[in-house]
Amino acid sequence: MTNLSPHPKQVYLDHSATSPLDPEVWNAMEPYFSDSFGNASTLYSLGRKARTAMVKAREQVASLIGAQPNEIYFTSGGTESDNIAIKGISRHLKSKGNHIITSSIEHPAVLETCKHLEKEGFRVTFLPVNEEGIVSLRDLKDVITPETILITVMHANNEIGTIQPIKEIGALAREKGIYFHTDAVQSVGKIPVNVGDMNVDLLSISAHKLYGPKGVGVLYIRRGVQIDPLLHGGGHERGMRPGTENIPGIVGLGKACQIAEENLDHNQEYITQLRDHLIKGVLEAVDDVQLNGHPIKRLPGNAHFSFKKIRGEPLTFLMDAKGVDVSTGSACSTKKVEPSHVLRAMGLDEEAANGSLRVTLGKENTPEDVDLAIKNIKLAVEKLRIPASVQGMTEIVPIERYNASFAPEKSFKTFNPPSTPGLTPGDDEIVVDEQVNLIINEKFRRSFSISPDALEEFTTGYLLGEGLVKSINGIKKIKINSLDINVEIDLTDFDIKDLVVGSDCFGGWRRKIETINRVESEFTLSPDDIFQAIDELRDEARVWQNTGGTHVAGLVYQDKFITREDVSRHVAADKVIGAAALVKVDFSQSFMVYSGRMPADMMIKLARVGIPIIASNAAPTSSGYSVAFKAGITMIGFLRGSRFNIYTNPQRVSLE
Ligand SMILES: Cc1ncc(COP(=O)(O)O)c(C=O)c1O
Repeated sequence: MTNLSPHPKQVYLDHSATSPLDPEVWNAMEPYFSDSFGNASTLYSLGRKARTAMVKAREQVASLIGAQPNEIYFTSGGTESDNIAIKGISRHLKSKGNHIITSSIEHPAVLETCKHLEKEGFRVTFLPVNEEGIVSLRDLKDVITPETILITVMHANNEIGTIQPIKEIGALAREKGIYFHTDAVQSVGKIPVNVGDMNVDLLSISAHKLYGPKGVGVLYIRRGVQIDPLLHGGGHERGMRPGTENIPGIVGLGKACQIAEENLDHNQEYITQLRDHLIKGVLEAVDDVQLNGHPIKRLPGNAHFSFKKIRGEPLTFLMDAKGVDVSTGSACSTKKVEPSHVLRAMGLDEEAANGSLRVTLGKENTPEDVDLAIKNIKLAVEKLRIPASVQGMTEIVPIERYNASFAPEKSFKTFNPPSTPGLTPGDDEIVVDEQVNLIINEKFRRSFSISPDALEEFTTGYLLGEGLVKSINGIKKIKINSLDINVEIDLTDFDIKDLVVGSDCFGGWRRKIETINRVESEFTLSPDDIFQAIDELRDEARVWQNTGGTHVAGLVYQDKFITREDVSRHVAADKVIGAAALVKVDFSQSFMVYSGRMPADMMIKLARVGIPIIASNAAPTSSGYSVAFKAGITMIGFLRGSRFNIYTNPQRVSLE
């Protein structure tokens, strides 16, 4: 087995996204970056050396797929190969017909190319797939017309690993005199690929999926097939793909193909065993899980699951934290929040599509890697399924909230039964937190643990506090869809990098201190106002302290006292800011009271919305103090008996 050295301590299980570079491949490439740097078009020995290396690489690729070397055209990767094949054939044959057939589960390199050709006047049929992700030959037969000039169906799918009946599709295409292209980016080097047996005319390969370098690939074009090249230039690659050749990349691709061919049987068997162990382990260890794709007709290394009641994104974050790299959907679609087009085409419902995880194994993985993945998938899924507020409890008990305002002298160290005199059950019982995802302008941003009853006010406060919107009018829509909060806002003026990150007093805030807003306000208040507000907050906090570690924030505005709590201090502040914004509070005429130490990133949020004063029983943190100083926010801390300390800007508070 080749000794690959992926990222130390991290187990890499995302080989469909890309594979590590095989050290032997690197050794073969390295001289062509240094001493043997020649241009293959030159006549002296340095150039001849580069040419010879290319000849060898062409033979190595051809040998792996059963082609002739002169049928191999080097490109910049899978995307380019797909583009040249599909556009090149279609444009060349435009006078013969304008119909292209593809599948609905292709990689975007094919789908988007076909959609582009629709704009040029071609008609494209996107074939459906069955629930295992396989195209039906009958469907294909039914849609072929005399106008059909090209069929392009991928060999193996990059998300679910399903292998299509390429040989049969190719035979049908040949019988009908239609050209057939297959995107074999995921299959070459992993399962046998033979262009003759498979009846293909064009086939795409990408080096970085088979332990080669990124940015280099191949388009196989069967001898005699004519295409219109995409690029025009110096005639390289027999005019099909001009441009000075990427010799180190080509050498690396050739070497990767040679290694793949020599080890194909062994790797295929070994990785299949690992995969089956993984699939069995996950299906046994986790409840409410399904395997997606075909049970057998799938790539050796591909396992693709859907877990009920969770989303794939937080699952991959947790797996990453546990040292395992896995993907949700395909690498190319991880930035989009829409469920994968492949899973939807297979008929998966939204929950199954959103809760999907792709684990793709490679030759360097070991049974221990797989065991680690099974263990951590189980832990991560269980963790995400338990509401955050009860994580760590051995027993999940319903928590009830009691309204303590009638019995301030009572001890609240333990819960009293509802019949205890002086305590009346509140109508706002504690709601168990849920893991919710915040999706801004269709992009997943963060997930938070929040009680579902506070989603709108929290989101409003978060958007204002993070500076994503300047006023509530900047929020076009907040749509709460079960565990997703979908928000539409105008982000044109906002640099997403300015988001307050984390609740760390020393890391997150420093970067933002230069861009802190200054609070302009003439607001004044009396000590009585402060003590009264702190008393009210204390009553709130007393109720909540039984739940452990809860933070409470309140906003005083005219005769209103708006208060909210949360296990996270920022979220408590976000909720209050949001609730206040929803009732159109003028923040410059309000002040905040808070149960904790007033950290920096909370002060940033106050500054963003323009709250001029904050008071707390506790002392400020030093980071909070620095931000408040820059922002011109007055901090009042250490409220004890009838005294308190004023920080940063005493002239703002008039003590009469
Ligand atoms: C099936 C498939 N086709 C095409 C591509 C694009 O290849 P490249 O990254 O080399 O452009 C990929 C890469 O993810 C793929 O999986």
